[in-house]
Amino acid sequence: MEEHNNKFDEEFDEHSDDELDKDFDTDIDELQKRKIDAKRIKQIDQTKKRATIESVFDERTVFNLNKIIVNGPLERVEGIISAGKEANIYLAYDLNGKEVAIKIYKIDSNTSKWMRNYIIGDPRFKKIPRNVSKVIFLWASKEFKNLKRAYKVGLSVPRPIFIKNNILIMEYIGFESIPAPLLKDIKKPKEPTNLMNLILTFIKELYQKAKLVHGDLSEFNILYHNQSPVVIDISQAVSIHHPKAEVYLVRDIKNIFSYFEKLGVETPDPKEFYYEVIKIEN
Ligand SMILES: Nc1ncnc2c1ncn2[C@@H]1O[C@H](COP(=O)(O)OP(=O)(O)OP(=O)(O)O)[C@@H](O)[C@H]1O
Ligand SMILES: [Mg+2]
Repeated sequence: MEEHNNKFDEEFDEHSDDELDKDFDTDIDELQKRKIDAKRIKQIDQTKKRATIESVFDERTVFNLNKIIVNGPLERVEGIISAGKEANIYLAYDLNGKEVAIKIYKIDSNTSKWMRNYIIGDPRFKKIPRNVSKVIFLWASKEFKNLKRAYKVGLSVPRPIFIKNNILIMEYIGFESIPAPLLKDIKKPKEPTNLMNLILTFIKELYQKAKLVHGDLSEFNILYHNQSPVVIDISQAVSIHHPKAEVYLVRDIKNIFSYFEKLGVETPDPKEFYYEVIKIEN
């Protein structure tokens, strides 16, 4: 060891003229700089990641997410698609390397308050929990059930895949890592009359076949994919027997009509359309 070190020193001394020293120093500087930069970038990256993660992932959610990654249908979580008030949406990959979207509801007492209003009166939910987390879990399961009901009758919604507490996994709508845009961000959709008809048919079939009213339907909750609409954010949807179902239906129709009127599309008579929707033929 001793011998080796001496040899190394000798060799080093042999070449230690001014020129070499300078080069050597510059190399060291470069190397250290790069190392420090890499470290700093990594640190920034980690704090950024931690910041987003902390805003939505409470300890229990992290635990459940890890469990889903270790035992369940997920391979890894790639990044955030959307950070909202009530929920964040993440892009992740399943075990076959296919993209999926994860919606994680935030455990928040204010959110749980207004959620109760939608749950109360829905005949599918008899007991309303007092506990904040439990209301949010019920809400997430409501979105999952609504997606299942709509998907089963062939409507254009993301395919529901998995639900556990406040974590919902569904089909990802987009091309590779680029999620489909919202309808509100499309300046001029191609064939807008055709697009409107697809959305009106959606409202009608959601009511008549899935027996649901969306309740928050607008260009903010419709993705534009392959020039067709895909309706998302169906958590607040209520059964057609909910006492407020008609009020929500009128509001959905108004939102869609006013969006297409702004585009200059000729819309049908809203009242006539409303009666067409609620007329269920047996
Ligand atoms: N399956 C999906 N595939 C691709 N992108 C999605 C998917 N679901 C949601 N998104 C994106 O995430 C955004 C938020 O989703 P969503 O509307 O379901 O949540 P939200 O309840 O409105 O959340 P918040 O109200 O807290 O913003 C959408 O506007 C859309 O851009
Ligand atoms: Mg939304």
